[in-house]
Parts: sequence; C-alpha cells; structure tokens
Amino acid sequence: MTLPPSLSDPALSDKVSIRGRRPRDLPTLRRWLADPEAAWRRWDAPYFHAASTTAVMQAYVDQLASRPPDPDERVIDLGGVCVGMVNRSEEAPAGGGWWDLGILVYDPAHWGRGVGTRALGLWVTATFEETNAHVVTFTTWSGNERMIRAALRLGFREAGRVREARVIEGRRYDSVRLDMLCADWERAQRETSVP
Ligand SMILES: CC(C)(COP(=O)(O)OP(=O)(O)OC[C@H]1O[C@@H](n2cnc3c(N)ncnc32)[C@H](O)[C@@H]1OP(=O)(O)O)[C@@H](O)C(=O)NCCC(=O)NCCS
Repeated sequence: MTLPPSLSDPALSDKVSIRGRRPRDLPTLRRWLADPEAAWRRWDAPYFHAASTTAVMQAYVDQLASRPPDPDERVIDLGGVCVGMVNRSEEAPAGGGWWDLGILVYDPAHWGRGVGTRALGLWVTATFEETNAHVVTFTTWSGNERMIRAALRLGFREAGRVREARVIEGRRYDSVRLDMLCADWERAQRETSVP
C-alpha cells in the first residue's frame, strides 16, 4: 500500500509491518499487557475502571499460549520485534459491513515516531481486503491527540463527538469517533500510488 507522503520518521515506519502472533511474541505481550502500571493504560480507554481493565487483560494474557492466533488481531512488528497490536471487531449485526478497529503501541519510546500511523494504514488495508467492511471506525477520547492525529493523517474523518462524555482523572473529555469508507480509502490509495 502507499502511505501519505510525510510520516514522523520514514526510516522507522518503513520497518513496520503487521503479522500474526508467534510463540516468541508471548513474553513481550505478557510483559506489556499484564502490567497495570504500563503507560499505555493512561491513553487506551482510561475512563474504564482500572481494576476491571487489569482483570480483562490478565485473562487475555493467561489464555494467549493455549489459543491459536485470532484473525481479527495482529502483532505490530518493528524490525522483527513485536511492539504492539491491532485488533478489530464487527459491529452488530454481523454482515452489516461496519468494523471497529483498535491499535496499541506498547512502549512510549516508540510513540510519536510514525509507527502507529504506518501500522494503522496497514490494518485498514488488511481489514478492507479480508472482511466485508464497507466502513471502519476508531473510537477514542479527545485527550488522545496522537490517536486522533494518526487517524486524520491517514484520511479518517471525525464521524461523531459526544461532548464531555468521558471522565479521566476528574476531568471531562469528549468521546470521539473517526470513520473511513472503503471507497474513499481505495481512491486515496490509487491517487497516491506512483504509476
Ligand atoms: C495512539 C498510538 C497508536 C499512535 O501511534 P504513534 O506511533 O504514537 O503515532 P504516530 O507517531 O504515527 O502519529 C502521532 C501523531 O500525533 C502527533 N503527536 C506526537 N506526539 C504528540 C503529543 N504528545 N501530543 C499531540 N500530538 C502528538 C504526531 O506529530 C503525529 O501527528 P502528525 O502525523 O500529524 O505529525 C500510540 O501512541 C499508542 O499506542 N498510544 C497508547 C495506546 C493508545 O492510545 N491506543 C489508542 C486507543 S484508541
């Protein structure tokens, strides 16, 4: 696929791919997902109660080794190392063509360097290729500027904003949803492709 011309760190983002989970990724996944103090927890849906998020994450980590890779999840690979994950779920009703996407880059040292934008673009392309998706969305909160800017950079549009719907550390933020139509994505890919 072709990406927008200016990413934060083209040299780094060139090394980004998405792939299925391998057994050797498990220690990395366990380390980042099971840590209740991990920095990503302050950004990825921090409005949910920390204890319930920790319990959900622990249960997820516990069954990773015994469960085959899920086609609706991929690992973000940076130069051969697992640095994050992408996932997707179909909005009800099944077959309706609406999929909601998620992304997580574990280590703050990798944030703001173009990794997320690149992985997100690859995941959007994969989702339109592999599913019946007519439209894909991301749902976040107004304080997560990296997430919003990465999506806007790829051509996502703001589809909805519920004002002051989320409380984080005593302050209210908007719930923000961004969308991308399959037709718009494919058109943008054609227009930015080098002939
Ligand atoms: C959200 C996330 C996936 C984005 O990935 P990333 O690799 O950090 O993003 P990128 O570097 O590709 O792009 C970030 C954008 O935000 C900008 N940015 C970087 N740091 C920023 C900051 N501190 N404040 C505001 N904007 C910032 C960058 O300039 C870039 O925008 P631009 O392309 O218009 O210049 C990643 O930061 C992450 O996993 N965070 C923790 C978990 C999370 O929030 N997940 C999403 C839940 S909905």
